[in-house]
Amino acid sequence: MTEFFAREIDTTKPSAARLYDWYLGGTHNYPIDRTFGELATQICPFVPDLARNNRGFLRRAVQFAVENGIRQFIDIGSGVPTVGNVHEVAHRTAPETRVVYVDNDAEAVVTSQEMLEGSTVATSVAADLRQPDLILDHPGTTRLIDFDQPVGLLIVAVFHFVSPSDGPHQLMRSYIDRLAPGSYVALSHITVDDATPVAAEQLQDLEREYGSTSNPAYLRTRDEFTQLFDGLELVEPGVSYATDWRNFEPVDPHDPARPCFYAAVGRKP
Ligand SMILES: C[S@@+](CC[C@H](N)C(=O)[O-])C[C@H]1O[C@@H](n2cnc3c(N)ncnc32)[C@H](O)[C@@H]1O
Repeated sequence: MTEFFAREIDTTKPSAARLYDWYLGGTHNYPIDRTFGELATQICPFVPDLARNNRGFLRRAVQFAVENGIRQFIDIGSGVPTVGNVHEVAHRTAPETRVVYVDNDAEAVVTSQEMLEGSTVATSVAADLRQPDLILDHPGTTRLIDFDQPVGLLIVAVFHFVSPSDGPHQLMRSYIDRLAPGSYVALSHITVDDATPVAAEQLQDLEREYGSTSNPAYLRTRDEFTQLFDGLELVEPGVSYATDWRNFEPVDPHDPARPCFYAAVGRKP
């Protein structure tokens, strides 16, 4: 297990990982996060629903990939461990599945490493999504991932922390180029394209507020989201709301959070 961190735990600024943990009812957060979380839910009351909706997509995407033969995952921006972690979902069907969790947040990495202590099939790596080679060539990754075999690459609820100036398209290309044919890539992303005017304003206000945290966030349009899958074939139903992607349970059509998270899975031909 790798024992270095991208940065120390900074408790002077809220972090996306700890806020997400707080939205989901977790305990891996600090007073600065809780204060910001309270403010965030005043600005945008449905923000915890966004987190829950996204988490449902993550679970279904992993299950889908496992059912399609994937036995190794790289989960970038994996967050603080919470109910339905990738290895837990995958292991219900295929206990031999290997998982590399990657995050650039110290709290997320520390708690993941604690949870995975002694595991031979899952590990946690401290690295930044914007450094694909560092992630893909990391000893923690290469120990568990065979790049000659298809991989499930999960970049779920993290790409909205990638700024347009970070070259989103080129970043995705760097990952996709390294994957074997038959690999799957799952992405989800916040958006206001189809939000009600009230919800759109709330989410845009929240986006501005995230500018003061360790993780400024960027909304993207359907076209910008879809372009991230260049070089992949979108699996059915293509780009959809996270709530709806291969969800066979009833979905609340009036949930203001529903249209605010795009999700899709692409397959490398
Ligand atoms: C909203 S959480 C999503 C967690 C999980 N993927 C999920 O969908 O439930 C976003 C995570 O991405 C991480 N993150 C943000 N920017 C990142 C970056 N540039 N590189 C790696 N991780 C990043 C945050 O620390 C946080 O843990």
